[in-house]
Amino acid sequence: MKFFVDTADVEAIAELNDLGMVDGVTTNPSIIMKSGRDIKEVTKEICDMVSGPVSAETVALDADGMIEEGRELAKIADNIAIKVPLTWAGLKACNVLSGEGRMVNVTLCFSPNQALLAAKAGATFISPFLGRLDDLNLEGTDLIADIRTIYDNYGFETNILAASIRSANHMKEVALIGADVATAPPNVIKSMANHVLTDKGLDAFMKDWAKTGQKIL
Ligand code: E4P
Repeated sequence: MKFFVDTADVEAIAELNDLGMVDGVTTNPSIIMKSGRDIKEVTKEICDMVSGPVSAETVALDADGMIEEGRELAKIADNIAIKVPLTWAGLKACNVLSGEGRMVNVTLCFSPNQALLAAKAGATFISPFLGRLDDLNLEGTDLIADIRTIYDNYGFETNILAASIRSANHMKEVALIGADVATAPPNVIKSMANHVLTDKGLDAFMKDWAKTGQKIL
């Protein structure tokens, strides 16, 4: 499973990128707002750092506007994936932009039928939002599993990009289902390394080592 980082925090991306953990980056208008940076400037900085796809989202609500904005965002770098919402206008824009050979990420997906339409429209990525369904006491993982089954039934090449991931447990669940990519905030990716028994075991080893009086270096 590929890891995308769901942030426009350049320092946080760099830290994970230096460990080889970053296969791509996703942003959205809220993430750009939180960064306090200019969308083109910060996106260019991220694209220069990361070789994989970097999603930048359009904000027009009509298809022509999304297409125009998508072409403008694509000028930032070759690894831009144009993000459009899963509306009828977004599907039209996806069809045109993917027909031009551009990477398109169709976002705000909350149903298997929406994912089926995105694949038919030529999406490179479909972004089902797991956490926002869980927030409503719905099973976000069921959505990912249903999309996996549908795409595999027909050999659709659209990549399932599990999004709105809130915990390390979500990462495990989407990996077990077979999502192609998971995008998560940096703190969630880092929290995957945590285990209370690792901390406890390390503490015991350190105490016993101190009793030996030895040094390795
Ligand atoms: C994905 O592309 C989205 O930017 C993101 O995962 C949304 O997550 P949220 O529901 O935590 O805002």
